[in-house]
Amino acid sequence: MTVSNDNKQRGFWKSRFGFILAASGSAVGLGNIWKFPYIVGENGGGAFVIIYILCTIAVGLPIMLAEFTIGRKTNLNPVGAFQALKANSPWTGIGYMGVLAGFFILSFYGVVGGWTLAYVAKSLTQTISNFASPQDAGQFFGSFISNTWEILCYHALFMGLCVGIVLRGVHSGIERACEILMPMLVIFLILLMFRSLTLPGAMEGVEFYLKPDLSKIGSQTILIALGQAFFSLSLGMGCMLTYGSYLPEDENLTSATAYVVIFDTMIALLVGMVIFPAVFAMGLEPAEGPSLVFSVLPAVFAGMPFGNLVSIIFFILLAIAAITSGISLLEAVVAYFIDQRGWDRKKAVLITSTVIFLFGVPSGLSFGVLSDAKLFGMNFFDHIDNIASNYLLPLGGMLTAIFVGWVWGTKSAKEEIEKHETQFHWGHIWGFLIRYVSPVAVLLVFLAKLFQ
Ligand code: PHE
Repeated sequence: MTVSNDNKQRGFWKSRFGFILAASGSAVGLGNIWKFPYIVGENGGGAFVIIYILCTIAVGLPIMLAEFTIGRKTNLNPVGAFQALKANSPWTGIGYMGVLAGFFILSFYGVVGGWTLAYVAKSLTQTISNFASPQDAGQFFGSFISNTWEILCYHALFMGLCVGIVLRGVHSGIERACEILMPMLVIFLILLMFRSLTLPGAMEGVEFYLKPDLSKIGSQTILIALGQAFFSLSLGMGCMLTYGSYLPEDENLTSATAYVVIFDTMIALLVGMVIFPAVFAMGLEPAEGPSLVFSVLPAVFAGMPFGNLVSIIFFILLAIAAITSGISLLEAVVAYFIDQRGWDRKKAVLITSTVIFLFGVPSGLSFGVLSDAKLFGMNFFDHIDNIASNYLLPLGGMLTAIFVGWVWGTKSAKEEIEKHETQFHWGHIWGFLIRYVSPVAVLLVFLAKLFQ
């Protein structure tokens, strides 16, 4: 194995702010914008939000700090990093699992990313601005995702955009793109929130969103909240580890972690404030996952003053969020080939993205020509999503926590963290969370998924 730690191919973040935006860009994605509101809707609104926030703080935050720390310590990709800290041990497997998870997730994430681009185009051409009912909008969405060529073209376009950014490297590509795209996302979101909250009847949605309904809290709720925290924070596959590997030594890791976690959580909470008031104001019920965003919202927008403009803004926002997450998934895979295989960036980006795209094709066709190709009642798309999100991520997160807590050791990790901060004041609490709370909590999620 050739380990080439060539900084020209790897790169570094130029500014602390740029790094925080890029990591936030990875975290904020489709997980926040369609998944979060729908899960909140199904799990008792405000009560779920509180549990989600607790999971984020108790499990997500410590694991993110662990990933950043391993990354900065080693300046390597997930595989190289574990290899460097514990040479020739099975722990390197966490890194391989992470690269594989990145490969899997991007293969279907790119498909949904393509849908978001298509809906930007369809908003601009006003194709999706005249639905009389959510049923019409749903039917339109159904026929759209079964159209082979359209799906493939938009999927390719999404991957092409990610490739274009990642090709330019860490600073000129990822950091610059996120510096432009992330503020846009926040501004659009705030604009949309005002539009949503000023609709007649919006307060009913706010009440649904913020009023805890304790009767809907069951044992599953915590597990769902934890799983969502994982996916949403991009943890468990070495994505944050890779981003941490481009950090200079004088970076304050604890505060960077706090910013990213707070940012991701704020965006999710904001999205809820956009979607529920709008859905309730239009007299609709909060529907399920993909249909909430792609079927229900166009109908909501159609019935709203300035609806077409709102629709354009919303889908651009969704596409931006998906792109800044897509590039982080691609970068984690690319970093492996640059560091471990000694490829140059161009070769690594072009080859991995092509293979990931091709592997994603059956996912893209899972709602059309391949919709009958089901195994255990799930299509190809669902299987890949399920394997990656429900198994590989939790397992990767749990093993990372165990590795840092017990193998590499919190003492070594704290030394790395304290390279910048003179003293890591929360070190004891973090040590406890990473050694006990995170592994046990994730183990529970993992087991629950396994026996579901
Ligand atoms: N966090 C991203 C989202 O919320 C998804 C993602 C998962 C990105 C894992 C990178 C790694 O959409």
